[in-house]
Amino acid sequence: MQRREFVRLGGVGALGALGAAAGGRTAQLLTGAAAAKPDITLRIAPVIVELAPTRVVSTIGYNGTSPGPILRMREGQPVTVEVINDTDVPELVHWHGLLIPSEVDGSEEECTPAVEAHGRRVYQFTPRPAGTRWYHTHTMAMDDLHRGSYTGQFGFLMIESGQNPGHYDQEVFLALRDWEPFFTSELMDTDEQNQKWPQTERPAVLDTRPNGLEVSAALYSINDKALGAGEPIRVKPGQRVLMHILNASAIENRALALPGHQFMILALDGNPVPTPRAIDQLFIGPGERIDAYVEMNNPGVWILGAPEDDIRNAGLGVVIEYASQRRQPQWIAPGPPSWDYTLFGHSPAPPKANEPERKIIDLRFEKLPRGRGPFNSFLVNGKEYPHEQEFVLRQGMPYRLIMRNRTDDAHPLHLHRHVFELVEIYGKSTAGILKDTVVAPYYGRAVVDFVADQPGLTLFHCHIQQHMDFGFKALFRYA
Ligand code: C2O
Ligand code: CU
Repeated sequence: MQRREFVRLGGVGALGALGAAAGGRTAQLLTGAAAAKPDITLRIAPVIVELAPTRVVSTIGYNGTSPGPILRMREGQPVTVEVINDTDVPELVHWHGLLIPSEVDGSEEECTPAVEAHGRRVYQFTPRPAGTRWYHTHTMAMDDLHRGSYTGQFGFLMIESGQNPGHYDQEVFLALRDWEPFFTSELMDTDEQNQKWPQTERPAVLDTRPNGLEVSAALYSINDKALGAGEPIRVKPGQRVLMHILNASAIENRALALPGHQFMILALDGNPVPTPRAIDQLFIGPGERIDAYVEMNNPGVWILGAPEDDIRNAGLGVVIEYASQRRQPQWIAPGPPSWDYTLFGHSPAPPKANEPERKIIDLRFEKLPRGRGPFNSFLVNGKEYPHEQEFVLRQGMPYRLIMRNRTDDAHPLHLHRHVFELVEIYGKSTAGILKDTVVAPYYGRAVVDFVADQPGLTLFHCHIQQHMDFGFKALFRYA
């Protein structure tokens, strides 16, 4: 499988290798055999997003919109994507949650060739596994808030298995976003999950130096509209609405509630959960996806939105309107947050007798306040990225990542090109929850298991752009 995929890459891989050898200058245009007719074309170019008639932002999007088009691919069916970059800087498109070779994964660290400014490039891969994935830019932004994932370069990517997705009456896609980011040292975080977890990673002596500038935003939207500005989601009593929810923010964890209704959680990061369960309030870190359905059994006009008044009033919400109901959209403050990944898992099975020994990789995350000028920097095992030497995987081996969050923020931690199983979080063990991104609570830890079955460079990072840019990354390589 791996071998065939690589061969199919043909010219892309070869040109990529040449480009890397030439110091990362990869401005080739694909011609001849490599220029297969694309199934999908993505054009990266400036767009205007009208969040509301009086709130219009200028950013970079895909095919003239932000979010970009909802892409649908068939699991296991090779696809050719042409990316045209109409901007003045090199770009990368990352396919988040797919098990595909590093050469096309869309990360500079993994040596995917960039799409040069005013250039084009063809990505060919075989999409898998089925589920709710997404695509987004993977460039660094550093202190430029008009680059990388601060822009509008994101969209849903649905990998379809052809199996019956279950019964529902309506399907909606909700990408949570913030706009017009700025630097501030006063940060309001949605890091409270109302969980009491053992703060095993809390340092004995806290670093009391003043915090560096972090990124915040003043405008929010779901997809391209601020609350109240777009069309409502129109429903009928008795309908079941399937919601695909993505936190496409570069900066913040978010929560979401719908008064008078519950979310029946079906899948996390696109992978079905062992124990589907209804919950009042969602919590979702940058990069994560939640698939849930809502039974529309409480007629009215409601606001689906952020529980914090300031965030919701700044745009993070959408109106849910039942047929023939006419009134002001209603908001009712939800109860305390109750999000806990382990609700959706099952209890861990006792270890089998002849299980291969699992190798443990310990990852310690620390924040250096103002470690880089006015900004904080982040250390993984005492060092900022890069530190390739430490993380070498042997193909076929099972691994356990112990992710120790020794900072005062909750971080959405993402592993490329692999699916992991959550085995411990908030001090509780669990099993059966398959993810690619998990929010590690502050001063707590998240433990995940995975099998090293995807040879190739593999990036691990915090999905908050600023953290990633200022050190919070690691690269895994196969021996
Ligand atoms: Cu969704 Cu490395 O990214
Ligand atoms: Cu982070």
